[in-house]
Amino acid sequence: MSKALDGVKILDFTHVQSGPTCTQLLAWFGADVIKVERAGEGDATRGQLRDIPDADSLYFTMLNHNKRSVTLDTKNPKGKEVLETMIRQCDVLVENFAPGALDRMGFSWERINELNPRMIVASVKGFGPGPYEDCKVYENVAQCAGGSASTTGFDDGPPLVTGAQIGDSGTGLHLALGIVAALYQRNTTGRGQKVLAAMQDSVLNLCRVKLRDQQRLDRTGVMKEYPQYPDQHFHEAVPRAGNASGGGQPGSILKCKGWETDPNAYIYFITQGAVWPAICRVIGEEGWIEDEAYKSPGARLLHLKPIFARIEEWTMTKTKFEAMDILNKFDIPCGPILSMKEIAEEPSLRATGTVVEVDHPVRGKYLTVGNPIKMSDSATEVTRSPLLGEHTDEVLAELGYDRDTIAALRAEKII
Ligand code: COA
Repeated sequence: MSKALDGVKILDFTHVQSGPTCTQLLAWFGADVIKVERAGEGDATRGQLRDIPDADSLYFTMLNHNKRSVTLDTKNPKGKEVLETMIRQCDVLVENFAPGALDRMGFSWERINELNPRMIVASVKGFGPGPYEDCKVYENVAQCAGGSASTTGFDDGPPLVTGAQIGDSGTGLHLALGIVAALYQRNTTGRGQKVLAAMQDSVLNLCRVKLRDQQRLDRTGVMKEYPQYPDQHFHEAVPRAGNASGGGQPGSILKCKGWETDPNAYIYFITQGAVWPAICRVIGEEGWIEDEAYKSPGARLLHLKPIFARIEEWTMTKTKFEAMDILNKFDIPCGPILSMKEIAEEPSLRATGTVVEVDHPVRGKYLTVGNPIKMSDSATEVTRSPLLGEHTDEVLAELGYDRDTIAALRAEKII
């Protein structure tokens, strides 16, 4: 089967998480992704959070599948020549160095554009132009600066970062879309272009509903679906909403049987308006169906705390999976709080390729998250991440370098 991005060559100058997420997706769609790393060191994540001595860490392996690895000292003049050859022959350069690093190396946008006017140069940076544009940024900084932390957590606690890597992996996803769009536009213009995904912007994009709420709050001073309503005052900024669902359908995380000992014995329960009568019947509160205080969604907003407390009395008598079975029969939207252990062992996720077992020559078998985007005519086969410099000779030969030149570059520690 062919792949969506067959024939696209990516010069992958990324490291850590955000950039590698992007190029891994492109590789899964069939692009030839050539990861350029420093000889002897490589991507810093190869050695971070190691669980097996001397084996590439899971941090690295799980973000660099389906790529080839080339080692190259791109600050050395001869190394720069090799990089120039790569720029001439590739379609896209993806990088997430600290601001200015590529320019300092001698590869400004103008220079790259001169070498290959068709090349797309795609970057992740922490911030776009503005007061923080020169800052180095990691995940949690982006979560804080993008509006996520101030709106996550409980009202009586500090701002909270989330476990979902929306700053790194979220920005990688945004950048991948920008690259594919730029490739599409190049079909008509024949030109490359710069693509920038700033982590702050990407997090804010994912927090779009909170900017919506800020404007509602500015105008009306109240947001009735927030847990602060009706008992507490709202301040001037969007507050932390705990586990409230935030939309028109109130929701909450409720205890299930076993919660005393199992930290994940919980269910997310949504009191969708359409199934309110069914909810009342399931929990044994048929009287609420016609009771004026509970009958309409608007009336219920005044009583969400007692409503969820009563539903929780019921969920606490069932395991989260028993509750799911019962609630799904009535189309009541709900979801179990799944631990990573449960997810890792879930057969249906293995069957769809969302959780994949991969074999690695040094570390052996490990689990990873496969391509979450499934395409009917471009299937993803997840293959292991490359060892450091595993494809240097192969790629240099493809670029036109002969054996002797490759040996000389190696002797000089340039590759
Ligand atoms: N050969 C020679 N030098 C190389 C090289 C190679 N193959 N690859 C990288 N380098 C050099 C770079 O030119 C740079 O040198 P300089 O500082 O002299 O200009 C240096 O290695 C490393 O760059 P830097 O990006 O500053 O690494 P860092 O480890 O200090 O910072 C980040 C890491 C993530 C904070 C930083 O890269 C960053 O802010 N990136 C943008 C935002 C981002 O993506 N953050 C999320 C990461 S998940």
